[in-house]
Parts: sequence; structure tokens; C-alpha cells
Amino acid sequence: MSRFERHVFVCVNERPGDDPRGCCSAKDSAAVLDRLKGETHRRGLKGKVRINKAGCLDQCALGVSIVVYPEGVWYGRVTVADVDEIIEKHLVGGVPVERLRTDLQGASHV
Ligand code: FES
Repeated sequence: MSRFERHVFVCVNERPGDDPRGCCSAKDSAAVLDRLKGETHRRGLKGKVRINKAGCLDQCALGVSIVVYPEGVWYGRVTVADVDEIIEKHLVGGVPVERLRTDLQGASHV
């Protein structure tokens, strides 16, 4: 059984359009998920990095929400354009992308 170095959860929760909480699905989380899966596979990271769909991560206003373990780093307002940077810096290089983090006190991105 292989063990992953990093596990990435992407919220793909969907709510009706009139729900005041909004949802990550409406912010194109499916495209973020597809890009993450496609790029990690293309870069040969399939055995090291696992990308999974998640239900609501309770950060709806900050969606698209992503959390990366084992570090427990939270990213918010992630778009497809941010994915390659997350892969390169964090999933490969081990250094979180500070500008997208929402788990830091006083995070400017929030
Ligand atoms: S809908 Fe994505 S965090 Fe709640």
C-alpha cells in the first residue's frame, strides 16, 4: 500500500443559487480540481500526492477552499490560475503559497 506525502482536499460542494452561503461549485471548483488532478498526474506525482473531492469545508465565503495535509495549510479564493503555483511551490517544493493562505492570523487574502 502506497503512502502519500501530501493529501489535498478540494471543496466541490454545490448549493442552490439562492442560498446566501454560496458554494465553491459556483466558483468553478470543478475546474480547480481537474487542473490539480491533471497537473499532478502529468508531473508524475500520482503516487506522492493525492487529490480528493471534499464536501463543504465550512469556509464558504472564501471558496474555492482547499486544505493540504499533513501541514494543515488552508487556501482560499483559489482559481485555476493559482493551481500550478500551489503544485510547484507547495506540493513539490514543500513551501506553502503564502498569498493564498487563509489559516494565518491577519492573512491579507481573507
Ligand atoms: S461550500 Fe466550499 S467551503 Fe463551504
